[in-house]
Amino acid sequence: ELVYLNGDWLAHDKAFVSVFDRGYMLGDGIYEVIPVYNGQPFAVEGHMLRFQAGLDAVGIGFDVDDLRPLLRQCLERSSLHGSDAAIYIQVTRGVAPRTHFFPEDVKPSVLLYAYPITLRGFENKLASVMISEDIRWHRCDIKSISLMANVRANNEAHRQSLAENLLSREGYITEGSHTSVFFVKNNTVYTHPEGHHILPGITRRVVIDLCGDLGLKLKEEAVQSDEVRNVDEIFLTGTTVQITAVTSVHLDGNEVFRTQDAGPITKMLQTAFIGKVA
Ligand code: PDD
Repeated sequence: ELVYLNGDWLAHDKAFVSVFDRGYMLGDGIYEVIPVYNGQPFAVEGHMLRFQAGLDAVGIGFDVDDLRPLLRQCLERSSLHGSDAAIYIQVTRGVAPRTHFFPEDVKPSVLLYAYPITLRGFENKLASVMISEDIRWHRCDIKSISLMANVRANNEAHRQSLAENLLSREGYITEGSHTSVFFVKNNTVYTHPEGHHILPGITRRVVIDLCGDLGLKLKEEAVQSDEVRNVDEIFLTGTTVQITAVTSVHLDGNEVFRTQDAGPITKMLQTAFIGKVA
């Protein structure tokens, strides 16, 4: 598989970064993942805007417009023509002797590659999840490559054969370890408002817009962790899960929510989403 690294397309096992790359040493970088349906990158503008906002927020001087030709090239070069894929992009602050403050005059390191991923059939998947404490920092809106709290939480879910976490901060569900979270109660759709405690998910925004198109009532309001047991439907959204129904929620070893299948509003949104990406 070919990867783009700092100006060159290389075989992945021939692509190397310095041990002093601040991404490697300090987790000092920003990333983005873009889904590719049928060879077409989806919602590219939203992903690019979020990526630029993240880089700007941490003072990494990089213009995401420089990536545009690479997006096309990576699909052409990686023999993923017409198939489903994801594009991973990462920009770190660059290579410099290790300091906690930002070094001056360093060139950001750029990595980009596409890999095959199954995007179709998400509407047939059912996810079992667990509620975990959200111990992340207070800038979850920045798509930082430092994902220790996320991977630690999701590993705990994985150990229990569960797919994802519903992260709970101060009694409210924020989002998942790598997905956004939606609830349905009494025909109203709920999701945590944007701000410093969630990533502004691109799929989340598409789903919010679909709620508008379908005439569904939507509130960008957080749901209390204690209320999860009383909701009618739960679903996850994200580049790697599209819209996946949650049919089981575990908390401290007990199952606090269970349904047989995706709920009616989840299914409506899934059908509408398929229409958008087809
Ligand atoms: N994860 N929340 C978090 C914490 C995420 O990491 C992601 C995406 C999302 C969904 O955002 P979007 O709809 O823009 O993909 C929400 C990516 C795919 C990842 O880390 O692999």
